[in-house]
Amino acid sequence: MTQTIRKAVFPVAGMGTRFLPATKANPKEMLPIVDKPLIQYAVEEAVAAGVTELIFVTSSSKRAIEDHFDRNFELEYELEQRGKQALLDIVRDILPTGVNCVYIRQPEALGLGHAVLCAKNVVSGDPFAVILADDLIDGGQHGCLSQMARLFEQQQCSLLGVEEVDAQETDKYGIVRLTEKGQRLGRVEQIIEKPPVGEAPSNLAVVGRYILTPRIFALLENTRKGAGGEIQLTDAIADLLVEETVMAYQFDGLRYDCGSKIGYLKATVEYALKHPHLKSEFLQYLRGYCLPSA
Ligand code: UTP
Repeated sequence: MTQTIRKAVFPVAGMGTRFLPATKANPKEMLPIVDKPLIQYAVEEAVAAGVTELIFVTSSSKRAIEDHFDRNFELEYELEQRGKQALLDIVRDILPTGVNCVYIRQPEALGLGHAVLCAKNVVSGDPFAVILADDLIDGGQHGCLSQMARLFEQQQCSLLGVEEVDAQETDKYGIVRLTEKGQRLGRVEQIIEKPPVGEAPSNLAVVGRYILTPRIFALLENTRKGAGGEIQLTDAIADLLVEETVMAYQFDGLRYDCGSKIGYLKATVEYALKHPHLKSEFLQYLRGYCLPSA
């Protein structure tokens, strides 16, 4: 029987230290790119790929995420009274009908692998996606997860979203070595978390999109602390590829590392330049700012 992806895990329990003090009381995933929080872009990408069950792994400082995807009757009432129909639609359409949210607490930030393991009972025996909202991916017409979900239907194996990174940056990512590499798809032979610069097996980095088979949970249960003293999803994937086929997919799209300040700023500028109501005014402003004498 061909399996499809209906569940997505959003690990949002990290501390977001690179963005302090903004993330002291506000979740990193609620930082807006123009007018939408990062987590909403991630959810929209998942829903467009056919996901109907959204599983958020949260922590005590992330309540705003739950509120964002819940109804806000007071706000809706006020907007209705003031005849602000367009805004009302924006607020009501955050979550399409037929899509459910589940929230699980990760009691301690023990790492991405541990966060994914927290979702074990809700995911149960199904293949599932993992989306890291701070990797914002503009996949154009076909979002990154849609591309991966379609591939999963053909391949029926775990898939990692990868992109080429600068050789000087391999120590920030999980890096893969591939065999049988086609144009965009290859079989993963080796995966290693944050290899030192100069020692990486390639410059193909795993970014925040995964489709995993449920076998990963049993492996995560036995995964010890790895790089940075955290339980790493990469280490469990290294065990998985000994047992099952794991493929890497070089997606079509542009990724912005919004967990870093520079990536966040690039995304803000580029999304503002694509925003239907802002683009001309913002472009004019940027031209004047960058080329004052022009
Ligand atoms: P990051 O390392 O990018 O996020 O983890 P972070 O820890 O929040 O940020 P910095 O590095 O301190 O600035 C990747 C993803 O995994 C989640 C994070 O929320 C992020 O989406 N994560 C990480 C968890 O959910 N739990 C953890 O224990 C660690």
